[in-house]
Amino acid sequence: MKGIMEELSQRIEQLKSKLRDSRYIVALTGAGISAESGVPTFRGENGLWKQYRAEDLATPESFTRSPKLVWEWYNWRRQLIAPLTYNAAHRALAELEEKFPHFTLITQNVDGLHKKAGSKNVLEIHGSIWKVRCTACNHISENYEVPIKILPHCKMCGGLLRPHVVWFGEPLPPDVSEETQRALGVCDFLMVIGTSGVVHPVASFPYYARAKGAFVVEVNLERTPISPIAHETILGKAGEIVPLFL
Ligand code: OAD
Repeated sequence: MKGIMEELSQRIEQLKSKLRDSRYIVALTGAGISAESGVPTFRGENGLWKQYRAEDLATPESFTRSPKLVWEWYNWRRQLIAPLTYNAAHRALAELEEKFPHFTLITQNVDGLHKKAGSKNVLEIHGSIWKVRCTACNHISENYEVPIKILPHCKMCGGLLRPHVVWFGEPLPPDVSEETQRALGVCDFLMVIGTSGVVHPVASFPYYARAKGAFVVEVNLERTPISPIAHETILGKAGEIVPLFL
């Protein structure tokens, strides 16, 4: 056990030195970083997509078919997430951002915990469960009602509101997508934390950053399709590993 811990701390020291020499840092996070806060992940043993069908709840077609059912599911998730708070990994990323002048956090998570932890330069590429968008006039607003009144309607035009999240089959919002590409293209150190790396286009981001010259470090409980191109994969809990980079 001592040997393993020593080896880990040596590897982390080397990575920290690499990090210190880097100019532009990007962290890419997925559901795994919020797991220790109590937010369910999507895949894996108790993952949401083991209990529910994404095609029934997280596609534009499912919303057209039954906005009530989709809103009920989002209400359940809002109720679940509302009392939860950030963990040591979220906090460590917020602290790293303070240390580096160029630091971008790209997250697939819609839970808002990175911002709650103090991260500022956050690109929520799959949107936010705490935002709603009008299906008629596209107006986006924050909404923290728990539960939200079903069915919610737009204050501006009366149109039906939907969660401001990206569903399967939908493109990433163009402005966020552009900013993401830019950050990945210029970063020299990319940390990929708690994502299964199977949902596109995000799954290709580490490949793109690596091709553009970034050093890629992955933190996950297990190896993923990103592991083959990562310079280092550290196996362990995000809440225990990420703070070691400080
Ligand atoms: P997944 O649920 O697919 O993957 C979670 C990953 O986190 C897995 O690789 C786990 O091994 C890892 N993990 C779990 N607990 C961890 C911990 N404590 N520390 C470190 N790693 C841990 O979640 P995502 O990759 O985020 O999209 O899923 C991507 C997208 O698929 C989501 O944004 C969502 C989903 O469908 C949409 O809803 C559009």
